[in-house]
Amino acid sequence: MKKIGILTSGGDAPGMNACIRAAVRAALATHLEIFGIRWGYDGLIRGDMIPLDRRAVANIIHQGGTILGTARSEEFRTKEGRAKAIKTLQDKSIEGLILIGGDGTFRGGTLLSQECGVSVVGIPGTIDNDCYGTDYTIGFDTAINTALEAIDRIRDTATAHDRLFFVEVMGRHTGFIALESGIAGGAEEFLIPEVPMSIDELSQRLEKNFKEGKRSAIVVVAEAEQPGESFRIAQEVKDKTGFDSRVCILGYIQRGGMPTARDRVLASRLGAAAVRALLDGKGGYMVGEINREIAYTPLKDTWEKKKPLHVGLTDLLKILSD
Ligand code: F6P
Repeated sequence: MKKIGILTSGGDAPGMNACIRAAVRAALATHLEIFGIRWGYDGLIRGDMIPLDRRAVANIIHQGGTILGTARSEEFRTKEGRAKAIKTLQDKSIEGLILIGGDGTFRGGTLLSQECGVSVVGIPGTIDNDCYGTDYTIGFDTAINTALEAIDRIRDTATAHDRLFFVEVMGRHTGFIALESGIAGGAEEFLIPEVPMSIDELSQRLEKNFKEGKRSAIVVVAEAEQPGESFRIAQEVKDKTGFDSRVCILGYIQRGGMPTARDRVLASRLGAAAVRALLDGKGGYMVGEINREIAYTPLKDTWEKKKPLHVGLTDLLKILSD
């Protein structure tokens, strides 16, 4: 293998730049040429790529976002779109491809590796942490710390006004961000898809807490299909309990910002491991970290299998929020 490519795809995540930097430097250290493909799969379809050297990735380790740009490509979902992407890879003699992204990226990557002879290796990069095959995804630690800072600030104003707050965090169908930022922020209640709770139950629990002396509370809500569900939930709780509340939707601030040390270390480690995986003939796998060791998971499993929430934490949640 002489030439490889790297791209970022799907929602950006803090630490993606640290990962690109690591992959580039690990590739150059093993005498591979490496190209940065811009704007995710859309760039691959258009052949939009630039050669990367050590200097091209200097001073980016601390930056959020991705220097390569990213996209959610509709065209790549089609066989015709993927055929154009394969032609780009063939025309540029790229034999290995590193994909940094989440489940959508790896769905595409699975098809790509089935439809062409190029080795494809995935690296989990999404704030949602919902990738099977790794304990943590790149960007998750930064996102929960951003959410935590917001929860701490909201607690100040909630306490000052004796108020109930609903804080909605990201996570698309999963409660990883809600669970960890909520536990760290001492949230009173959680609404996450993995541990369902009805509005009736939530209302009763809040009423009990307030009767027993609580004067303010924070409910952390994992965003559902559409952001903004918390407004409906807050209204329904008000209808049942009479509690006035405020809603705060954290939204995209969770996606940006300087990556934490933990995300930078994970990103550096996985970037280098992906290059090693390509050289070792491990195409069709995602490199992750499980129990602090590098783990290889077939790309298909990363989106077909559901990553469970940490059982210990969900048990703890029940005790702490009781
Ligand atoms: O993939 C991360 C994520 O932040 C989800 O939690 C969120 O639902 C989604 O991206 C929103 O992404 P976009 O608006 O960029 O498509």
